[in-house]
Amino acid sequence: MSDTHRLQTEVGKLREALREANYRYYVLDDPSLTDSDYDRLFQRLKQLETENPELISDDSPTQRVGSIPASGFTEVAHRQPMLSLDNAFSDEDLDAFLQRLTDRLGTPETLVFTAEPKLDGTAISLTYERGTLIQGLTRGDGETGEDITSNVRTINSIPLTLRGSAYPDILEIRGEIYMPRQAFEALNERQRAKGEKTFVNPRNAASGSLRQHDARITAQRQLEFCAYGTGFVEGGQIPSNQFECLLQLREWGVKVSHLLQKCDKLSELKAYHEHIGKERDGLSFDIDGVVFKVNDFGLQQKLGFVSRAPRWAIAYKFPAQEEVTRLLAIDFQVGRTGAVTPVARLEPVFVGGVTVSNATLHNLHEIQRLDARAGDQVVVRRAGDVIPQVVRVLTEKRQSDLPRTEIPENCPVCGSEVLMLEGEAVARCTGGMTCAAQRKESLKHFASRKAMDIEGLGEKLIETLVELDMVRSAGDLYRLEADQIAGLERMGRKSADNLLKALDKSRNTRLDRFVYALGIREVGEATAKNLVRHFSTLEAIMEADEESLLAVPDIGPIVAGHIVHFFRQPDNLGIINDLRDLGVHWPSPRSESEEETASALDGKTFVITGTLPDLSRDDIKARLETLGAKVTGSVSKKTDYLLAGEAAGSKLEKARTLGVAILGPEHLESLLEGVIPV
Ligand code: IVH
Repeated sequence: MSDTHRLQTEVGKLREALREANYRYYVLDDPSLTDSDYDRLFQRLKQLETENPELISDDSPTQRVGSIPASGFTEVAHRQPMLSLDNAFSDEDLDAFLQRLTDRLGTPETLVFTAEPKLDGTAISLTYERGTLIQGLTRGDGETGEDITSNVRTINSIPLTLRGSAYPDILEIRGEIYMPRQAFEALNERQRAKGEKTFVNPRNAASGSLRQHDARITAQRQLEFCAYGTGFVEGGQIPSNQFECLLQLREWGVKVSHLLQKCDKLSELKAYHEHIGKERDGLSFDIDGVVFKVNDFGLQQKLGFVSRAPRWAIAYKFPAQEEVTRLLAIDFQVGRTGAVTPVARLEPVFVGGVTVSNATLHNLHEIQRLDARAGDQVVVRRAGDVIPQVVRVLTEKRQSDLPRTEIPENCPVCGSEVLMLEGEAVARCTGGMTCAAQRKESLKHFASRKAMDIEGLGEKLIETLVELDMVRSAGDLYRLEADQIAGLERMGRKSADNLLKALDKSRNTRLDRFVYALGIREVGEATAKNLVRHFSTLEAIMEADEESLLAVPDIGPIVAGHIVHFFRQPDNLGIINDLRDLGVHWPSPRSESEEETASALDGKTFVITGTLPDLSRDDIKARLETLGAKVTGSVSKKTDYLLAGEAAGSKLEKARTLGVAILGPEHLESLLEGVIPV
């Protein structure tokens, strides 16, 4: 084989592997490569293409992001108009839709429908010519859209080439481009940090991102695509109904909703609406309803359209995720690290399926940016598990006499000065542990499940203990006496005894839990674990300077600064000593010689599933990790051992299929001693 040939073969294989990985990840939702393996292949391909530019082709996975900003978007007529949908808001509306179908077709019982989620993004038309993506158009006014091909190409879930070969010569695919909630929150967070305009919702963020003249910006916005139909087709066949058509698109490598269903019975339509309504909050993206479509394309044609909407489809909407209500007041709350955050008190409003009366305004800058004033009409958004937010103030509706919101100069709880540090969007109370609010929040964090895990020491109880000045620092918790606790409201002898037992139990902890419990700014569980893995002892962590902290995975200069600062505060050192004097302890690290003999787990990959006696999966994970093992969430060919407890399910089956070694609860003890049972 000549060198050129060998090179071409490698480049071809790399591209194929990357396309396949994308397909597995985006379309099948079943990743085949880890991120780092993907990056490795991608970098290799990039390197070969840089060294041999003649091998670059437009459909190479490396060629998604162009670098020349478009000066404007060309208007292009759609070959077939892009329509919209009629809406139903109640079961009665849905019945009326079905009645209209019956009037035209008769026998609704035999009608088959598809049920799909109604994604809340922006409609797009993608044209593939002989399997290659050649054009992406916005919906525009339905007749004419804008050519945003260079932006569309940056979206990883849109294939640059279709899979297989049996697709029509020209295939127009239609679907929705949307921004997953996490990407949206992260984008707004970045915008806020830069003091730039935030987006009201993921839909606006998606369409704004698509209309960027510089595709490199679009590429950073983590947009996704999901197909819901086809448009113009020439030179080939597509299936004769919606359901099979979407499955066919999936075969061709295009993402189709995993919530797609065929409904043979009318009763299934309402059940689907109800079911998806319940799932809605847990999805990673916004949906605003479900769409029912008559499945058979022949019947669709027979039914036709009324004005801009087809008679054969209906969008059955969910409660809106944005509503307008009145802002009654803005309160300021003080968190664990002293951050003063504004909270909007609202006239109760039904939004996103629940009644909301409090919402976040993010930070003090945001109040100024939004110019929110008590008495204003505001847009409240609630989607998924995210806290309801005030996203817009209807300043145009304001009565002229509303006073501006003053940013507090003093802490509303302790009266200490509130400072806004340079470069930080957050204002902080400077009271430290003299501030009751910070004390309460620090103690809540200290007692929480992933920290010291003090069962029965809930938020209300901590608040009472601080308010009555029975507890000022974490150490005071361990000095509480049964009589004192039993005397508190809603506590009795028994709950007092239980709390003391729980406190006692928590004395025996793990170092990473303890470090996390200290509540150092931006030191979460993962960072605490990394610190312990790197330094082994509390003394070493306390003595570490910024430079040595930077050697710990995931620790950057800011976090390193917080850690050093924390351990320089005499108050914090006092709290740590106090806790150790009160008997809080953790296992000492293994010596080097022990480590050598205990290296059997080193570098081995484990998956833990099912219920194991005594220890939680989290705890076992942490202990195995300190022994050098890697613990991952899903079984693959790379898994060395599956540790399966009671009621292990699909992971156990997968491990069996892949021939992964399986260990049971009886092996746990020796594993934790660093020995792999044979
Ligand atoms: S079908 C003729 N299916 O909703 C049929 N649309 O309100 C036209 N949408 O512009 C569209 N999810 O952007 C269809 N599963 C889905 C959809 C969907 C979201 C959007 C689409 C359309 C708008 C109409």
